[in-house]
Amino acid sequence: MNLLDGKVVSAKIKEDIKKEAAEFTASAGRKPHLVAILVGNDGGSETYVASKMRNCELVGFESTNIRYGVDITEEELIAKIHEINLDPTIDGLIVQLPLPKHIDPDKITEAIDYRKDVDGFHPINLGRMQRNLPCFIPATPYGIMLMLEHYGLDIAGKKAVVVGRSNIVGSPMSILLARNSNPGNCTVTLTHSRTANLKEEVLQGDVVVAAIGKKNFVTADMVKEGAIVIDVGINRENSTETKSGFKLYGDVDFEPVAKKASWITPVPGGVGLMTIVGLLKNTLEAAKGTIY
Ligand code: GUN
Repeated sequence: MNLLDGKVVSAKIKEDIKKEAAEFTASAGRKPHLVAILVGNDGGSETYVASKMRNCELVGFESTNIRYGVDITEEELIAKIHEINLDPTIDGLIVQLPLPKHIDPDKITEAIDYRKDVDGFHPINLGRMQRNLPCFIPATPYGIMLMLEHYGLDIAGKKAVVVGRSNIVGSPMSILLARNSNPGNCTVTLTHSRTANLKEEVLQGDVVVAAIGKKNFVTADMVKEGAIVIDVGINRENSTETKSGFKLYGDVDFEPVAKKASWITPVPGGVGLMTIVGLLKNTLEAAKGTIY
């Protein structure tokens, strides 16, 4: 088993981003600027947004975190998004998900100017991604592709099985793996909660991407010998063992699956770190105007 090490890969790519950010700042007279809107106080979201902001500082971006209580209305949030859309000093805008139930995430996603949509969730970016046109690619699938690229893993012609069909990970991941691009060119099966014979489907995978949000969901009996296993899960459980008061578990039962896998990502230290890299790369592209 070989480890797909998010620490090593993310550190290397962040060095490159830092250099490019410095070049941008020198010529533009301002830093690339990411705004993250956080509604409410979901523990996971707080951690993710704090990490996104910290990483922006590390690579020389400006970052702004706008926070609202759970009682903000959809109209108020959309008004703020429209204001940011028109602000030339802001390159990228993300609204952290999940949102409170009274706010429709699809409306919010479509309110963001697609040229600032560094999450890559806007239907224009999604459509352009499917067509293999320049676009913002959702950060987690983007980070996973960068990791496969870094290790030079040739997945063309292989069977890939994605577990989970979320808008954020599973669905865009299936498009990227199937695209005529490198990495890509896989034969893709997108599985979900209604899939019949899930175990048999996952067993077909030369590449398995687990993005279902359930601790240790993918077990060793579901994984083919020699598979490349990508674990997107970040399942938090309270723990007295750690300083933070919680412990992270992946969607993959790591130890037994690692014995069968050729390559595998750890949790933590795998995909999570690459998600940040995907977001930083998109923000830099937004600032440079190289996509739109
Ligand atoms: N919630 C979980 N992952 C993400 C992400 O990549 N972007 C946003 N905006 N919210 C998330």
